[in-house]
Amino acid sequence: MEYPVTGLHHITACASGAQEDLDFFTKVVGQRMIKQTILFDGRYAHYHFYYANGNAEPGTVMTTFPYKRLMGRTGSGQVQATVYTVAKGALPFWIDHFNRHRIVHRGMHERFGQKFVQFNHPCGLQFEVIEDAAERRVGWSTEEIAPAESVRGFHGPLLSVREIEEEERFFMEALGFRKTGVDGVYHRYEIGRGGAGKTIILLHEPQRPAGSWTFGAGTHHHVALSVADDEALAEQKGIYEELGYTDCSEIKDRNYFHSIYVRSPGGVLVECAATAPGGFAKDEAFNQLGSHLLLPPWFEHRREEILAMLEPIKPPEFHAPVPVEAIGASRRTEATFVAVDREPADREYVREPVTR
Ligand SMILES: [Fe+2]
Repeated sequence: MEYPVTGLHHITACASGAQEDLDFFTKVVGQRMIKQTILFDGRYAHYHFYYANGNAEPGTVMTTFPYKRLMGRTGSGQVQATVYTVAKGALPFWIDHFNRHRIVHRGMHERFGQKFVQFNHPCGLQFEVIEDAAERRVGWSTEEIAPAESVRGFHGPLLSVREIEEEERFFMEALGFRKTGVDGVYHRYEIGRGGAGKTIILLHEPQRPAGSWTFGAGTHHHVALSVADDEALAEQKGIYEELGYTDCSEIKDRNYFHSIYVRSPGGVLVECAATAPGGFAKDEAFNQLGSHLLLPPWFEHRREEILAMLEPIKPPEFHAPVPVEAIGASRRTEATFVAVDREPADREYVREPVTR
């Protein structure tokens, strides 16, 4: 059977402060900020930031909602970590780099024969850099990170699940992944030619309590897989429904791509996304990506109101490169924004201790 999914599209997480997030991804991870916009859902105005490699390619796109107002709870049924590939031999650079930036990391480890280093976003989110000799994608470089050492894009996400069987069935039967290995608690699945950008790994944690499903600082929210176009989205929705995964959403218009979402049996929210015509360059020049706050046309007339609710930020200076109606995609054009995204004074933190 032919499946529409071709690999990873993007991974989305909730950070805490907006400037903190922007500095982490552009200076520590060294990705290119390719879009500043807002979360299209809900009553609160939140930023939605997109970071990617130089070419802004699917499979490299990390997106965050800075979400100070509410803490998430990490646990099973969540994306545990986002894993970026780097060139073979680059990890010593990364360990020095993390130390220079006082980033919490856990030294070098190995999984499926590949060396990796796990590290933390200041809000607690987990990331990894993993060496991959077969990686050919082009990264983004910064004053501190040369092209040879740069992150190239995703290897894939680590998904924490209490049970393997039904989550495995979902990825294999509904999405077309094949199982390519087990290494201790890690179960690996690949699609297409496999490898970087075409891999997901289940982390078997049978005793781990479930993490939160809501938006909340310090937790990943979902993983998105890439499909070609709106027809492929409709086809994937059909596959879900045929198998009985009837909670698939309608096709949503995310401006830069169109999406469907389904909650997988292990708890992880899985999106399928088809890049819209023009992609991330549909509303700003490719070499200007990420330099200004962009609102979807249907919220543009409320720019001042929205801006007043967002944390002022300073974007990095060096970041200077099918019609919706036709597919019946839903677009939320009305909204009542009620308040600023501010940390409540009485909030109790539920954050896993970070140790070095
Ligand atoms: Fe998404």
